[in-house]
Amino acid sequence: MSRASRVQRLLLMIAASVVAGSLAGCKPAALQADPETIARGKELYHALSCDRCHGLDAVGSTRTYAPTHNHIRTTAEQRIHDPDYAGKATSVAEYIRESIVDPKAYIVAGYRHLRFDMPSYTHLSERDVDALVQFLSQQE
Ligand code: HEC
Repeated sequence: MSRASRVQRLLLMIAASVVAGSLAGCKPAALQADPETIARGKELYHALSCDRCHGLDAVGSTRTYAPTHNHIRTTAEQRIHDPDYAGKATSVAEYIRESIVDPKAYIVAGYRHLRFDMPSYTHLSERDVDALVQFLSQQE
């Protein structure tokens, strides 16, 4: 192997480990989430009727009045990078929080002026919103 290609290989390995490191860096929110809060979020999700409009396998809901919450972590990431995104969130957790307390900040394309508009849950305590955000952030 020539010296140049050895150097190239080395650079590639460094690049790969940097990428792996930064991908791992995207995860802490999901990894650090505490199981009790997530379980509470799941209960609230049902108690607050989120599952009457949203489909989510984790709670056995197949409703389609609203965008699916399967893989919402990935979807949220895509939403905030969408050029049409009009809200203020810069992370998955912020996006989910904004969708709950200020749903009009950004309305998912195709879901405008429906009969089942997303209600804004401004009456929820900070703790309840947190639990919902943590629960939904697990749906990768
Ligand atoms: C009456 C039906 C209805 C209920 C109940 C409801 N939603 Fe929604 N939700 C919607 C609709 C419709 C949208 C899409 C329009 C929008 O973006 O506001 C939406 C959007 C969302 C989004 C953004 C989804 C995406 O793909 O970007 C999140 C997150 C969300 N809702 C969470 C919740 C949570 C958590 C609850 C319960 C506390 C809940 N919703 C209850 C109808 C509902």
